[in-house]
Amino acid sequence: MLGAGGLLGTPLSRLLSQHSNVELHAFKRGQLDIAERPRVRACFADLSPDLVINCAAFTRVDDCEREADLAMQVNGHAPGALATMAADAGARFVHVSTDYVFDGQKQSAYIEDDPTGPDKALCVYGRSKLEGERRVLAAGGRPLIVRTSWVFGADGPNFVATILNLARTRPELKVVNDQHGRPTYAADLAAAIISLVEHGATGIVHAVNGEPCTWFDFACEIVRRAGLRTPVKPCTSAEFPRPAKRPANSVLDTARFEHLTGHGMRSWRDALRDHLAQIG
Ligand SMILES: NC(=O)c1ccc[n+]([C@@H]2O[C@H](COP(=O)([O-])OP(=O)(O)OC[C@H]3O[C@@H](n4cnc5c(N)ncnc54)[C@H](OP(=O)(O)O)[C@@H]3O)[C@@H](O)[C@H]2O)c1
Repeated sequence: MLGAGGLLGTPLSRLLSQHSNVELHAFKRGQLDIAERPRVRACFADLSPDLVINCAAFTRVDDCEREADLAMQVNGHAPGALATMAADAGARFVHVSTDYVFDGQKQSAYIEDDPTGPDKALCVYGRSKLEGERRVLAAGGRPLIVRTSWVFGADGPNFVATILNLARTRPELKVVNDQHGRPTYAADLAAAIISLVEHGATGIVHAVNGEPCTWFDFACEIVRRAGLRTPVKPCTSAEFPRPAKRPANSVLDTARFEHLTGHGMRSWRDALRDHLAQIG
């Protein structure tokens, strides 16, 4: 597994290490850079993997705007090379992608086949991840691409940690209320990916926790559940400009996930409760 030190890679490595029939080789960035083609090739030759899961990505969405070449290398080109090496080695390849491939204009939840394109993605990160999807699918070998959104968890910077920190240090918070999505607990996403692999899923599948909301709704629930009394006020994206433009609607439909696995993913509210209990 690649990108094993991140928000998703950490719980996914933990879960996989508990499977007695899995011999896990989990690489953090310092151990294997996915953009270093010769080292990755040597690693494939050394391990002859049956399954390769790529959780590595350049995920700092705003930084991608200034570092577009690096974003395209890590999120676009490297996954394609990994998928090609996996296909050549006869290994299954699993890649993780994002809701930011969409333009956010749809009035309902996005399904896997909804149109994407470099002209539709609103930011460098979205375009680089879309290029990654395109190259992974073009590599052959029936890969699985799991699109997810708004990931939170214990193993890296994320919205829940940011809001808790701000709510403890500021008199009031303002949070955007015009972007809609589905928050997703990294541990639940890890389990969902394993379930998809066990069910032999291929192609693109959306995997996110249940119940759409806005960042404002999400922040209110974080503050409330943490027992804090800091007021949270809604604002617009225009009031809180960021270098990278985000889609107004990036709610992902999960009917395909449910059809393939026979089960759904729980509400993000229940996942948030467990996460807050875990981090204390
Ligand atoms: N986080 C979200 O809200 C979100 C939403 C939608 C989709 N996703 C997707 O979910 C997947 C997992 O992301 P995450 O949430 O776990 O983010 P993350 O915590 O940033 O994890 C990504 C990991 O990849 C590593 N990495 C970066 N460049 C690398 C390289 N060239 N070679 C090897 N490793 C590299 C990072 O290391 P450093 O920390 O040292 O850079 C980090 O450990 C990604 O494909 C991401 O695009 C995430």
